[in-house]
Amino acid sequence: MMFKDIMADYQKTVEDYLKTLFTDDVPQKQLFDAMRYSLLAGGKRIRPILTLEFCRVCGGDMEKALPFAAAIEMVHTYSLIHDDLPCMDNDDYRRGRLTNHKVFGEANAVLAGDALLTAAFGSLAKAELPADRICKAVALLSKRAGECGMVGGQVLDLAGEQLVLTEEEIFNVHRLKTGALISAACQLGVIAAGGTQEQLDAADRYAEALGLAFQTRDDMLDVLGDSGKMGKATGMDENKNTFVRLYGVGACSRLIEKETQKAIEALGAFEDSDFLKELSMKLAIREC
Ligand code: IPE
Ligand code: IPE
Ligand code: MG
Ligand code: MG
Ligand code: MG
Repeated sequence: MMFKDIMADYQKTVEDYLKTLFTDDVPQKQLFDAMRYSLLAGGKRIRPILTLEFCRVCGGDMEKALPFAAAIEMVHTYSLIHDDLPCMDNDDYRRGRLTNHKVFGEANAVLAGDALLTAAFGSLAKAELPADRICKAVALLSKRAGECGMVGGQVLDLAGEQLVLTEEEIFNVHRLKTGALISAACQLGVIAAGGTQEQLDAADRYAEALGLAFQTRDDMLDVLGDSGKMGKATGMDENKNTFVRLYGVGACSRLIEKETQKAIEALGAFEDSDFLKELSMKLAIREC
């Protein structure tokens, strides 16, 4: 199968699974609506796809990894809802529609994020996998999403708006705010499959390089991209510490190429890693 067909299959698998969630008829329907509004707004689903593909390359059953894949997408979606709030990046558009707080109000947007984060851990727990794998997954996601992972990175990103950060500091912000969840996505797949420590380490190396390339491309697209294609506004990052601001877009392209090469090298630890290789190459030149 061609890369784009595999990708489309994966996206459909993830969409179909996510659609089944949060459909109960409850008095707090506005909360469920707000959760589904952002969760089902058609993101690229890169993180859950990484989970499923890493599970596959480690010889696991992808079907059983779906609750892990959904969990990482829930955490990612919560991070976007909160990232867009007026007190953070103050964005009006996301995934081609108005941001969550624009539609449901700030309080509901905060709470929808809270509920998605909480539900993510419930999703890990309900996977039909051995208990030791689920415990490992919970510990991993907690670490990568929390104060020393994505949330920690978001704090440094916002604090940096008042400062001029060095290359090393920007790298650290990217590693935490973006790389940490991408790493969790990859490693959750290895864990679901019962993979080895060597495979976990290689998944982390792949994700670290991919995450840096991914955020740098995101920052380039803020300047060069088409907001229609991206489903979010451009020109929002003037006060942000990005490699675009520090070095300009040309240097960013080279940085992305270098990191993509590093990601591909980490794949030596896996057989049958063509899809992961191609994914990193496609993401390096993505337009949305
Ligand atoms: C956006 O992530 C936030 C960043 C980490 C740059 P994605 O570009 O993966 O967003 P969706 O999920 O496709 O909407
Ligand atoms: C996103 O970084 C990092 C998150 C943890 C959400 P950005 O703030 O650059 O992401 P966009 O551009 O709003 O998607
Ligand atoms: Mg942000
Ligand atoms: Mg933002
Ligand atoms: Mg951005």
